[in-house]
Amino acid sequence: MRIRFFSCIALAFALLACQTKQQQVYSPNGNIKVTIGVDNHNRAYYTAQYHSETVINNSYLGYTLSGDIDLTQFRLDGFTQLTHDDTWEQPWGEQRVIRNHYNELTMRLISLANPDLSMSVVVRAYNEGFAFRYIVDSQNNIGGKAEIVDENTEFCLPWDAQAWSGPTNHTNFLEALWTKSAVSEKDTVATPMTIEVRDDLYMVIHEANLTNYSSLDLAPAKREDTKTTLKATLVPWSDGVLVKTTFPFKSPWRTVLLANKPGDLITSYMELNLNEPCKIEDLSWIEPGRYIGIWWGMHMKDYTWEMGPKHGATTDNTKRYIDFAAKHGFKGVLVEGWNKGWEGDWTIIDDHFNYTEAYPDYDINYLCEYAKAKGVRIIAHTETGGAVENFENQMDSAFSYYHRLGINAVKTGYVNPKHNGKEWQRSQYGVEHYRKVVETAAKYEIMIDNHEPAMPTGIRRTWPNLMTGEGVRGQEWNAWNAAGGNPPYHTCVLPFTRGLAGPMDFTPVIFNFNNKVLPDVHPESTIAKQLAEFMILYSPLQMAADMIENMEGQDGMDFIESCPTTWEETRVIDAKIGEYIVEARKVRDDCQPTGKEPQAGAWFVAAITNEVARDIALTLHFLDSNASYLATIFQDGIDADYQTNPYSLEISEQMVSSQSTLHLHLARSGGVAIRIEKIQE
Ligand code: NOJ
Repeated sequence: MRIRFFSCIALAFALLACQTKQQQVYSPNGNIKVTIGVDNHNRAYYTAQYHSETVINNSYLGYTLSGDIDLTQFRLDGFTQLTHDDTWEQPWGEQRVIRNHYNELTMRLISLANPDLSMSVVVRAYNEGFAFRYIVDSQNNIGGKAEIVDENTEFCLPWDAQAWSGPTNHTNFLEALWTKSAVSEKDTVATPMTIEVRDDLYMVIHEANLTNYSSLDLAPAKREDTKTTLKATLVPWSDGVLVKTTFPFKSPWRTVLLANKPGDLITSYMELNLNEPCKIEDLSWIEPGRYIGIWWGMHMKDYTWEMGPKHGATTDNTKRYIDFAAKHGFKGVLVEGWNKGWEGDWTIIDDHFNYTEAYPDYDINYLCEYAKAKGVRIIAHTETGGAVENFENQMDSAFSYYHRLGINAVKTGYVNPKHNGKEWQRSQYGVEHYRKVVETAAKYEIMIDNHEPAMPTGIRRTWPNLMTGEGVRGQEWNAWNAAGGNPPYHTCVLPFTRGLAGPMDFTPVIFNFNNKVLPDVHPESTIAKQLAEFMILYSPLQMAADMIENMEGQDGMDFIESCPTTWEETRVIDAKIGEYIVEARKVRDDCQPTGKEPQAGAWFVAAITNEVARDIALTLHFLDSNASYLATIFQDGIDADYQTNPYSLEISEQMVSSQSTLHLHLARSGGVAIRIEKIQE
């Protein structure tokens, strides 16, 4: 019955389409309108409006394929529309239940130059943005080769607004600082690009479901008739081709988020909705949680990865970490430098890394048993140094070996801008490799933390064992970046830029800022801000990064030990990109708390600021109105300052309710982290 109803609607729209060369689709709430059509020059285009204001001027769509195959001029073949509305549940994430509600419009086109080629543009309008993708088919060449040499997608903006972006020369591992400048002045940049049009208008361009394709970059392009144009430029293969595929093929979704407040960008789940539903049936082995690691010691040069007098991954040292994890409620212990191959220049492309042979001073069988007895799991590390083929050759046997040992998470690494010394990390080759890793890992019930990745695009919905990743300038820069630690504004930008793409393994929480090698290099923050970042910089596998001797006895550990890494709901209370963010997260209704974690019904609130101190009045109206709560507040001491007194931390308790307002002071580059436990209904 329902199908027949939708078919009738589709037929009605199809008939209408014969009379017009363009059609509109509206978001379910009507605030966003996207128009697609074919103009008098036979070019496919789209435009978009938000609250009746044009936000994308006429922007062209299409492709050039190798062999001079033209997909830029078309005959219109018709339109269809449909509506979709359902909800689904995340196994872990910033929000448990997600509604997927959109209106979809498809425009079917036939290439003028190559009439056996068809291209559909599918547009989905959501309440918080819209997305479109191409589906290209060839009647005569089904299954035949298709090579993209140009994707002509444009984003023509009616203003030359300021935007946050990260440069993309393909060599920086997506770890450059995000900078703010006018869109027209940008060099080629990676997405997401976060455009601050005005205080009440924000736009983010990114992509979703990057599958069998290469990563999207944006470059300013010249067009007479519009203020600022960005054009898609895809990361190429070494031979210059952008995407190598077969007919029929689909592009990833090109996504445009629109919001009046920056916080609404964070609580949009459109990107996840644009990915396929979960492909893993039994999710019981996917376990978000806190972890520690034999890691900061290497970056501070106290330990080495390779075996020797300062080897970090020894049996004794790992036991110490397992003991600490068990005592303080961490589920995982990352061990780097456990496997053979770290001697000399480990970024040379050959087969020096071995993923199943441990150094002789690391008793892997004993340690995995020891960890298991203590309720802790070892997290394995598989740095490739870019030698991807070597990793792929060993991957199955390595992952099955880890599975037998009870290891259920692997941190992968690719410290070399080119895979196999040849293909960029974000090229189609890289994208396909990263997917192969996630899918193979799923076979062996292993979660992945992907360092030096391609930018995430929501694949975690389909493969929720893809937990987290780097592609972010993380804490490690506060150890060895000779130019200084990450600037105070950095983590106030990340939630609105890199964080919109997916979870970040930033590895927050350092308690000891002494750096013996580079004394001026350390986290540019207070301790309270380090704690707050543990909640704000979202990652389902969240690391407390410091060495255990620095964490033992710290008062702030009480917050870390209690803070979950998966949530019922997330709200952004207030924010200004690059300046501050105040965020609240609710403990999952179905949580099974361990150790110091609070029961369902509890909330956590955290705030961080840039180099400017500020006072915030936090009204707790999100709490249940008929309940009372105990708030434990970890805040900057009155004399705290990131430069002169970063360690000053004050911890207090207070009974609160939904009527309460907390007046909180954030020091320069400071923060506050609050646990709010329900005491009684
Ligand atoms: C860079 C990664 O970001 C870091 O976490 C890791 O320790 C080193 N590579 C070595 O693999």
